[in-house]
Amino acid sequence: MTNNPIIEVKQLYKSFGNEPALNNLDFSVEKGEIFGFLGPSGAGKTTTIKILTGQLNQDSGSATVLGSNSQHFKENIYEHIGVVTHDSGLYENLLAYNNLVTFARIFNSDKKSIDPLLKRVGLYNDRNKLVKKFSQGMKQRLILARAILNRPEILFLDEPTNGIDPGTTKEIHKLIFELRDSGTTIFLTTHNMTEATKLCDRVALLNDGKIAEIGSPQDLSLKYNKKIQFKVLLKDNESLKLNDSEETRGKINWWLENGELQTIHSCEPTLEDVFLQVTGRKLK
Ligand SMILES: Nc1ncnc2c1ncn2[C@@H]1O[C@H](COP(=O)(O)OP(=O)(O)OP(=O)(O)O)[C@@H](O)[C@H]1O
Ligand SMILES: [Mg+2]
Repeated sequence: MTNNPIIEVKQLYKSFGNEPALNNLDFSVEKGEIFGFLGPSGAGKTTTIKILTGQLNQDSGSATVLGSNSQHFKENIYEHIGVVTHDSGLYENLLAYNNLVTFARIFNSDKKSIDPLLKRVGLYNDRNKLVKKFSQGMKQRLILARAILNRPEILFLDEPTNGIDPGTTKEIHKLIFELRDSGTTIFLTTHNMTEATKLCDRVALLNDGKIAEIGSPQDLSLKYNKKIQFKVLLKDNESLKLNDSEETRGKINWWLENGELQTIHSCEPTLEDVFLQVTGRKLK
């Protein structure tokens, strides 16, 4: 990976009352990656997004986004970043299409890009419906469409699939990959480790306002793979879990040579297991 940070956070500290919500965070996000903040409820995920998007000020430390200090953003920064949070309001009494027209005017975007975008998020056939008649998943997709209307360089997504059905979740994941492939940097938060493993190039494990670990899901999984194990299924349907040893490798070789093996898997820890090992707590 090249060293080309698009977001740089140093010793970021924020407290509400006496309780630190963010306790000296240090991390950077490279241009073009999908970076995930993974942590349980109350870990500080939304607070971080709010600071990085200029909606909240920190107590100390710094956050630099696209070369600008988040405490002194100029208005035009919002032409380059898109934000999807839970309270991203839509105009409930306007048609879906007209919601996007309103934002296209604000962003000086071309109205011609609205229809392809509605198709992309699967809402083209619903474009002439009032937003108040939309399901939660449809609203979430419309908010996402609005956030990418101005082709942002960075897209911030706060739990983009929380409360969304599996079909829509899959569509949103596809869209996130397409955006990344077209050069958008994505910063997302989630408490869903399967989502983080699937989507993110790198994740930060956030616990009680502190980063406990940072790395690619695969590197973290291998780093915490303390006990190498294999799960095998033999031809007679016997299922076994074996610790790595010379004896195990001998057995596996024998099964392979004698056509006794149906399936074999190594058992690396999931991000959920890593989280538990590192923080001593479960994600949910
Ligand atoms: N406006 C606020 N006033 C007081 N405390 C706050 C405020 N916003 C957040 N907090 C506290 O800061 C901590 C971090 O909250 P935050 O919303 O960032 O967590 P989160 O990781 O986004 O959680 P969730 O998964 O539930 O969305 C929590 O202890 C929360 O209670
Ligand atoms: Mg949150």
